[in-house]
Amino acid sequence: MVGYKSKVVESISLPSRERRERALEEAGHNVFNLSSSDVFVDLLTDSGTGAMSEDQWAAMMAGDEAYAGSESFDRLASAVRDVMGFEHVVPTHQGRGAENVLYGSLLSEGDAVPNNTHFDTTRAHVANQGADPVDCPVSGAFDPDLEEPFKGNFSLERAREVVDEVGADRVPLVIQTITNNSAAGQPVSVENTRRVREFADEIDATFVIDACRFAENAAFVKRRDPAYEDRSIGEIAREQLGYADAVVMSGKKDAFVNVGGFVATDDPALYDRCKQRAILYEGFPTYGGMAGRDLAAMAVGLREAVDGSTVGERIASVREFGGLLAEAGVPVYRPIGGHAVYIDAGEALSHIPAEAFPGQALVCELYREGGVRGVELGSFAFPDTERPELVRLAVPRRTYHREHFEHVAETAGAALESPESVSGLEVATDPAVPELRHFTAELEPLA
Ligand code: F0G
Repeated sequence: MVGYKSKVVESISLPSRERRERALEEAGHNVFNLSSSDVFVDLLTDSGTGAMSEDQWAAMMAGDEAYAGSESFDRLASAVRDVMGFEHVVPTHQGRGAENVLYGSLLSEGDAVPNNTHFDTTRAHVANQGADPVDCPVSGAFDPDLEEPFKGNFSLERAREVVDEVGADRVPLVIQTITNNSAAGQPVSVENTRRVREFADEIDATFVIDACRFAENAAFVKRRDPAYEDRSIGEIAREQLGYADAVVMSGKKDAFVNVGGFVATDDPALYDRCKQRAILYEGFPTYGGMAGRDLAAMAVGLREAVDGSTVGERIASVREFGGLLAEAGVPVYRPIGGHAVYIDAGEALSHIPAEAFPGQALVCELYREGGVRGVELGSFAFPDTERPELVRLAVPRRTYHREHFEHVAETAGAALESPESVSGLEVATDPAVPELRHFTAELEPLA
């Protein structure tokens, strides 16, 4: 039995229903526009919102703030070597900084990039290089009721079609995202990663793993693939990541920090290119957009991520949370993912058509009913793509407890008690960048 006790606490309170109604109006029915003081249980993201351990806080006090040759950088490089198995590391301010550094070093106008499913910043960075981000999920990845162990896998069949369409010389990069955040946080098998490695070799492409949630993925492999049940989380992670030429990492996920990220690789030439680009966009390669204290905390967090009990406890508590929601009659995507529970809003609010954003309507209702903040990942966030109408309730690491999850489940159950009373929404503002409208757009309820 393992767990946590509290050493530092932050007060939270549920604002009155009147205040919640007003706050939602003021936010233009977009919960990104809410002040966090108006939120009771904040499940907007698991990114940078977790609690650091006492060892991480202690390491911060000893952070070395030298511009060049920081000892904290050496500690991070050594953690990356031990935990992930890569020799070279280029720190960045967060995951999307790493994407810019690496993808900017590898891509040219007109390239195509297969990925099991692009996260939104990944898609934007690939497109920003003039390349075409192509999602290659396996069939069934977007079926909320299909119980399969590795629905996050990369479809080699789809990727081969891409190569046939554009030619192998236009596919210099293949990405695999573990776990697959944009496909309900589903894990990827080590076998699938091995096959993507072979595919990348066949077409002479660089193989990158987006390793944000690599430890959660390893914990799923241990539980779901009998060939790995006797291997430790650390061993599984090193084997899986070892198939890649490089990783991009957001430390805000499985390195348990509030900010930070990196690129890591064994390839000296790629390292050198990334280093040069990092100096331009991030900072000198021994701090790269982070304070020395943040590098220090990330080095400790990376080791905690694979200590076995931490990540095992995490995926168990997310699964338990999913169970509470299901018991409250809420339709949830199955199996439950690693970092979040995804509600099937298309089923829950089946009277609201996609054009009126059933997921966003549910997000608003969860806030109105119980001060709970989730995020829509359906036709509002991804217009013009065929996806189910999902609402993600992401669980910050080591932060909330069972009573919070019970509150969310009760809230969701109550919000869906008379679904017909929930109305759809329309977008009322016209954001400058259409792909990013869900972050800032204001909406209005339909009559
Ligand atoms: N890749 C994946 C798979 C991610 O989930 C994220 C961030 C990033 C890259 C970018 O990292 O935020 O540090 O710049 N995901 C967060 C989320 C924001 O809510 O899922 P970042």
